[in-house]
Amino acid sequence: MTMGKATPDEIASAYDGIADNLGEVLGSSLHMGYWGGPEPALTIEDASHRMTDLIMDGLDTSPGQRVIDIGCGTGSPAMRLARARNVTVVGVTISGVQVDIATERAAAEGLSDQVSFQRANAMELPFPDASFDAAWAIECLLHMPDRLTVLREIARVLRPGGSLALSDPVLRSPHMTGEQREALDRYYDLFKVVNVPPIDDYPGILRDSGFQLDRMTDVGDHLDPHRWGPRGWRVLSESLRQNPALTADKYGLTPEQHDAFLTGLASMEGLPAQGYLLVSAHLAGARGGSR
Ligand SMILES: C[S@@+](CC[C@H](N)C(=O)[O-])C[C@H]1O[C@@H](n2cnc3c(N)ncnc32)[C@H](O)[C@@H]1O
Repeated sequence: MTMGKATPDEIASAYDGIADNLGEVLGSSLHMGYWGGPEPALTIEDASHRMTDLIMDGLDTSPGQRVIDIGCGTGSPAMRLARARNVTVVGVTISGVQVDIATERAAAEGLSDQVSFQRANAMELPFPDASFDAAWAIECLLHMPDRLTVLREIARVLRPGGSLALSDPVLRSPHMTGEQREALDRYYDLFKVVNVPPIDDYPGILRDSGFQLDRMTDVGDHLDPHRWGPRGWRVLSESLRQNPALTADKYGLTPEQHDAFLTGLASMEGLPAQGYLLVSAHLAGARGGSR
């Protein structure tokens, strides 16, 4: 599959430009919602928090420990983690505007002594070896050219036994129609998606970056019906039609180009190829967390 080869600077300026309104479409966090579970999620924000909590279930921490949030967005997941687990969280994002928004939000919520945010490229983390107890990376590896590099970098800053939880879109199957492939490529281009691996590659990627896999679950069938997902393309298309600032205005598309993009996106409906992995793993060594 051909994908846009956006550089970290291009990704930063894309997120800088949409930092204010992305949360309106996606809920308070900038990741997929989880709409499954015994009780249906009622709002996009419920579903978004539900996904954060599912990923958190895979992260091993003890009170007082230090966690790094890779690709932290505007800070909502970091603040939720800090509160739920009584840990300190350092968030890094490539977007300077997101750092400012996240820092203001933490101050407004009285969490400035527990969470902090800084601009950094996750492929070259500005932290010493073994300086964190745990790490999570929610829906951000898709913007990075090479998962091995970033996961090795995360392994470097984690102490032995350190825990990792992440969420990441994956391809369940390379089989799709030409129209669906075109729509997916266009979507990846617009949203600066650089790399989506086949699901079967994941255990090897984790092993080769030094992690021992504890759990890997594909929740792609439970993604937010208002956004991206095997059952949600048509609704995402409509949602973007109502928010042209995110696509047409941002990327200078003519009305015809925008319409063609949204029509292509809607044609992804029912595509079984897109999965969404929740992964829990750890480094070899004494495991310090107790949740
Ligand atoms: C889809 S958003 C997810 C944000 C956040 N994890 C959440 O769930 O709300 C992707 C995030 O990855 C960050 N990102 C992309 N490339 C990055 C890089 N090379 N280094 C650090 N952060 C990066 C973006 O700035 C953005 O914050």
